[in-house]
Amino acid sequence: MADRAPRRVGRPLTALPEEPMTAPTTRAKPAPFNGYYTPVSQDTDSALTAAGPGTPGGDYLRRFWHPIAMASEVKDTPLPLRVLGEELVLFRDLSGRLGLVHRHCSHRGTSLEYGIIGPDGIRCAYHGWKYAIDGTVLETPSEPPRSRLKDSFSHGAYRTHEYAGLIFAYMGPPEATPEFPVYDSLTWPDGNELVPYKLEMPCNWLQVHENAADPIHTAYLHAIVSGVQFTPAFAELPELEFMETPIGLLSIATRRCGQNLWIRASDVILPNVAQFGTGFVDGSKEKFALCAAFTRWIVPIDDTHCWVIGVRHFNPVIDPRNEGRADRIGLGRIDLMGQTDERPYAERQKNPGDWDAMVAQGPIAIRANEHLASTDKGVAMLRRQLRNGMRDVQQGIEPRMPQRYPGGPVPTYNNETILGVPALVPDDAAVMRAFGNKICRTVIDSAALPPGRRQAEVEARVRAMQAEGAFYPQALPETRLAENL
Ligand code: FES
Ligand SMILES: [Fe+2]
Repeated sequence: MADRAPRRVGRPLTALPEEPMTAPTTRAKPAPFNGYYTPVSQDTDSALTAAGPGTPGGDYLRRFWHPIAMASEVKDTPLPLRVLGEELVLFRDLSGRLGLVHRHCSHRGTSLEYGIIGPDGIRCAYHGWKYAIDGTVLETPSEPPRSRLKDSFSHGAYRTHEYAGLIFAYMGPPEATPEFPVYDSLTWPDGNELVPYKLEMPCNWLQVHENAADPIHTAYLHAIVSGVQFTPAFAELPELEFMETPIGLLSIATRRCGQNLWIRASDVILPNVAQFGTGFVDGSKEKFALCAAFTRWIVPIDDTHCWVIGVRHFNPVIDPRNEGRADRIGLGRIDLMGQTDERPYAERQKNPGDWDAMVAQGPIAIRANEHLASTDKGVAMLRRQLRNGMRDVQQGIEPRMPQRYPGGPVPTYNNETILGVPALVPDDAAVMRAFGNKICRTVIDSAALPPGRRQAEVEARVRAMQAEGAFYPQALPETRLAENL
């Protein structure tokens, strides 16, 4: 467009300004019983959290493809949806093409959820105006035959794309439509089965997405405080590391499981995608899986509701013991406890899960009331990346987009790695950090390789590191290796 600044691609990852890690305080010494003096802000930080049209976050999010429904939800009547604060209907015309259009008819505003679907679009029930899937006004019956009214405007419509049992929408400026990003984890390994799911949460999208950059909660919420929800191995306190990747960041938790070290490295992909390993790990068996068990988007419905929508992966690389339950996955269901409010409140109070922790932060978590700690570096990094993306779009700079491997999918970095690395006494934490750091750095540096070759070559490299003791400080005295933990 003539009035836009020349296109530049997002700011370099190294030029991120610092986000304060702790809330500023003016009190010299904390006082007891001082609720009266403890400030409680109501500031929702709408510059970061709002997703509606015309907001910085809304403008930024609209530059990406987002899943908005499971394909199985689209039946023979229009599906009313609210997405990014907009009222829409989704339908499949009788020729099989998907349409996503503004919900309220351009004539006098009745809802197209009562529209009649035809071979070439949808007809409003009130006065019969008809719209094609791209918003073209096909008919305005009862207008005089020579009327040019229908050619003078179009009805609001968005592009859609169907993939892996999900329907995606692009709701940004049409002239800036990005390529639909197919992540390598969705296409590899051969035979990877993808099972779609969709959950709804009554809270702002960002606090749900931030959970992916907060790996310490997997120890406390999922094992230590709230009881073992996945496996007892999650109760081991991890060493944490956060690395920027070309698509966002890697949130790395490294735990000791006897003589093995276990990395759970989760992809946090801009703006609202994340990938995770399984919840079944007990740490007893060596494993190197450069792929994911979950790929999910957090899509704002409006500022106080969102969907967790994505796919579960079923393949023997990520889940060699076949512990996933495809029959428990779908609309409102996932094979991981604590992700919905289906359990009774009394039970959730005693044994809260992710749903309870995130929804209980409030309709929109108030970040001004937080005290970010050293374990929140991933959350701070994610917010920095998002603020920069939002600022770029506001300034006419193209946001950073996922880049494909030439001729292939977009490289991602999620890995679940378990290797035998005997403990070092007294500073095993240094070994854990080196293990997480070196392996994930190798994963990030291997992005140019095609997926199958990449898994094999990176595994060979990490095995070589394991064999040469690369995770230990140099000149390690043999006697400092613990026989058993
Ligand atoms: S309100 Fe839709 S045709 Fe009149
Ligand atoms: Fe969790």
